[in-house]
Amino acid sequence: MNLFVKKSIDTLMAASKEGEKTLKRTLGVGSLIALGIGAIIGAGIFVRTAAAAGEHAGPAVTISFLIAAAGCALAGLCYAEFASMIPIAGSAYTYSYTTMGEFIAWIIGWDLVLEYALGAATVAIGWSQYFNNFLETFFNCHIPFALSHSPFEVSTTTTGMYAAEIGTRGLINLPAIFILLMLTLLLIKGTAESAIVNNIIVIVKVAIVLMIIGLGWQFINPANHTPYMIPENAGDVKTNTGIVHYADTFNHGWLGVLRGASVVFFAFIGFDAVSTAAQEAKNPQKDMPKGILISLAFCTILYILFSHVLTGLAPYKEFLVKGKEASVTYAITTFMTGYGWLAKLVTIAILAGFSSVILVMLLGQTRVFYTMSIDGLIPPVFSKLHPKFRTPYKSQLFFFVFVSLFAGFIPDSVVGEMVSIGTLFAFVLVCIGILILRRKSPDLVRPFKTPLYLIVCPLGALICLAMMGSEGLENWLRLIIWMAIGMFIYFGYSIKNSHVRLGKTETPNDPPNPHFVE
Ligand code: ALA
Repeated sequence: MNLFVKKSIDTLMAASKEGEKTLKRTLGVGSLIALGIGAIIGAGIFVRTAAAAGEHAGPAVTISFLIAAAGCALAGLCYAEFASMIPIAGSAYTYSYTTMGEFIAWIIGWDLVLEYALGAATVAIGWSQYFNNFLETFFNCHIPFALSHSPFEVSTTTTGMYAAEIGTRGLINLPAIFILLMLTLLLIKGTAESAIVNNIIVIVKVAIVLMIIGLGWQFINPANHTPYMIPENAGDVKTNTGIVHYADTFNHGWLGVLRGASVVFFAFIGFDAVSTAAQEAKNPQKDMPKGILISLAFCTILYILFSHVLTGLAPYKEFLVKGKEASVTYAITTFMTGYGWLAKLVTIAILAGFSSVILVMLLGQTRVFYTMSIDGLIPPVFSKLHPKFRTPYKSQLFFFVFVSLFAGFIPDSVVGEMVSIGTLFAFVLVCIGILILRRKSPDLVRPFKTPLYLIVCPLGALICLAMMGSEGLENWLRLIIWMAIGMFIYFGYSIKNSHVRLGKTETPNDPPNPHFVE
């Protein structure tokens, strides 16, 4: 049996031509960049940065951002080549089906669940932290620790809103599940306004980051930036998920910075979501690469400046204890005297900003599964559209339950690292994919060509692999188990139902995409 049967590009391209049943091409380069930034700026910068600095990299988290950005930029060029070559919805999954065959496509599609579904879970957990902060700031109350944390967390702080609950173990993260439910319902209904809403949220998010950089700069305490990397003898810190030993290999020095890169890598995830909008782009060949690369470059500059300010405000160890949750507002209220209003503004902006990231991720997830279902690789229920709203409502409800199981019962550090390792793996495959294709199919029309591909592709794969290498045995095991489950489904179900194998020629007409309706 040929594991590498391919989908024909011609069939796909025909399906992507605008017609009655296909999506409208309404997105210009500006909307694509806004879409990218909307998906990129989220819990990565406002939650994971402090975690990376506190646990692994210290103030040198700025260098972590540079490493992660380098990996993303190189992989981004490869994504852009794929996206311009095959400007069709479905992201890396679709690209690989036509170019590298079904088996690799399955691996990537299955792996993307880690990126999109668990990504949504991670951001929902971050949302929950800032939501409690919001309640405390504005209404002087909060949801008890047990009902806003996973069973793997125990309250350890003697200050802040949970001080009276010290020693309490988490039970379930209800606010995280709540926001997932709200956004799932919104996605099921679909909304014509959301392209505008997305643009407003993007402006607010960027404005907040710029304000923190601009206003926080004068409060940087140079002592917090020395030494720049965590020294081996920095000791131990007890957190609410366990003890952090700085003497451990990946918790100090350059290897700590590398591990930090794999953590903050989360902050860049989403630029590839631009590629999922290829079918709605007015001029995909030219605009997709621009959309991907400009949004990435813009965010990298913001992130480096932002993390420089954040680690300059508070000593990195505080991000493990007092400033572990809602770390940005913690740093502002504690170290930026007179800027309480900024902390309030940040909290509100973050709640809105995170919601847009979760929305894009839940959407991306159901989109990829929609396409896989149309291809027969997963059951038809995932492409079943609501009779009135024309959205894949059953899939959306399924993923609400799936994502909630993670958001409600697992700590953000674990879910976040699973997202990172899974997405890095997809990036490695995309980089290698471009390399193979240039060799095997040199004549394919490539409106955008990755420059210096003999250097860019292997280097992109290498940097992403290095970040994966720093992730530790536990994360590798989780990835292997996830992939093993995927193999089980592929050989048990997909291979027998694959439409390409059965000679069916259905085309992937996507459901309306609420984000892109003008
Ligand atoms: N990049 C997105 C975030 O940071 C996933 O929330």
